[in-house]
Amino acid sequence: VSDMLIDSFGRKHTYLRISLTERCNLRCQYCMPAEGVELTPSPQLLTHREIIRLANLFVASGVEKIRLTGGEPTVRKDIRDICLDLSSLKGLKTLAITTNGITLARKLPLLKQCGVTNLNISLDTLVPSKFEFMTRRKGHHKVIESVNSAIDLGYNPVKVNCVVMRGFNDDEMCDFVELTREKPINVRFIEFMPFDGNVWNVKKLVPYVEMLDTVMIKFPALKRLHDHPTETAKNFRIDGHAGTVSFVTSMTEHFCAGCNRLRLLADGNLKVCLFGPSEVSLRDPLRSGAGDNELREIIRAAVKRKKAAHAGMFDIAKTANRPMIHIGG
Ligand code: GTP
Ligand code: 5AD
Ligand code: SF4
Repeated sequence: VSDMLIDSFGRKHTYLRISLTERCNLRCQYCMPAEGVELTPSPQLLTHREIIRLANLFVASGVEKIRLTGGEPTVRKDIRDICLDLSSLKGLKTLAITTNGITLARKLPLLKQCGVTNLNISLDTLVPSKFEFMTRRKGHHKVIESVNSAIDLGYNPVKVNCVVMRGFNDDEMCDFVELTREKPINVRFIEFMPFDGNVWNVKKLVPYVEMLDTVMIKFPALKRLHDHPTETAKNFRIDGHAGTVSFVTSMTEHFCAGCNRLRLLADGNLKVCLFGPSEVSLRDPLRSGAGDNELREIIRAAVKRKKAAHAGMFDIAKTANRPMIHIGG
């Protein structure tokens, strides 16, 4: 099954996102409801060994990049050991983490030693009181500290994920861009997406063209870069700035045609599209003794079921999916 990771539209899946946990130390409004979500009982979550066994299969079939997500991946106690084992998989070129940065400054030196090559840190506002409103927790200064320590440790660029929500942080876009003047960060303005249990509505979505206008007024020197076909982001630079600016346009200009991503959720389900309800358990066959070939066949069949593109924002908003906190982005 050498075509295990090629779907029926010829897309080759070389990027696996692994969610390490459904838990998080924040409660972001765009990700989960205030009361939290139901957690999968721990015995049903993939163990360190199971994650490595599955990751090994994917990497042997062509996956070159793994991103660890959550919930918040750094709350998982064995994250360092997982990183150490993943980074030694032959053929893996990139081991990335998407994190909220709350405990990262402390953990980062060790994570770097364990082979983490790329960092995306979520930061939606530069105003501490707004941070507390959005995340329903304190800790803004810790995230800022994490971004700075990532820069100090040589991560370049440090990607900063900013989900733009009308009336909340759309007035801060230029302040974020200003950060790129001196710092080697890639600020990524993300269109707000609907997930089960979040506060999405179409009025809160700021479309890409509008975001671009807002930034252009203050920074007319913004220049479009050439993007790799599998990129989620449209990338820009400004002459003289150390960092760059990007837009992730999932809602108004989706990038499904170039999609190279698969998702392994914390409960062991394989999810072939962020917005597709179709999932298949890899944990169950694994635990009932399936061999590698049997697992490969299950993965291959799931990948072949992947749709050409997501259904459009209004259909997505109406279709049952998981809450974002289970998927990890
Ligand atoms: P890189 O690996 O650095 O390119 O980052 P990324 O954008 O793939 O991942 P990240 O975890 O930083 O997520 C940033 C935003 O992109 C989040 O809002 C994700 O939900 C969104 N995103 C990531 N992958 C996909 C995808 O396959 N489809 C869609 N529609 N959005 C995605
Ligand atoms: N819409 C867009 N992006 C989101 N993220 C979380 N929830 C949403 C949403 N509803 C982003 C976070 C994190 C990444 C994994 O996904 O900012 O950086
Ligand atoms: Fe936690 Fe990230 Fe979800 Fe916010 S977006 S609640 S930080 S998992």
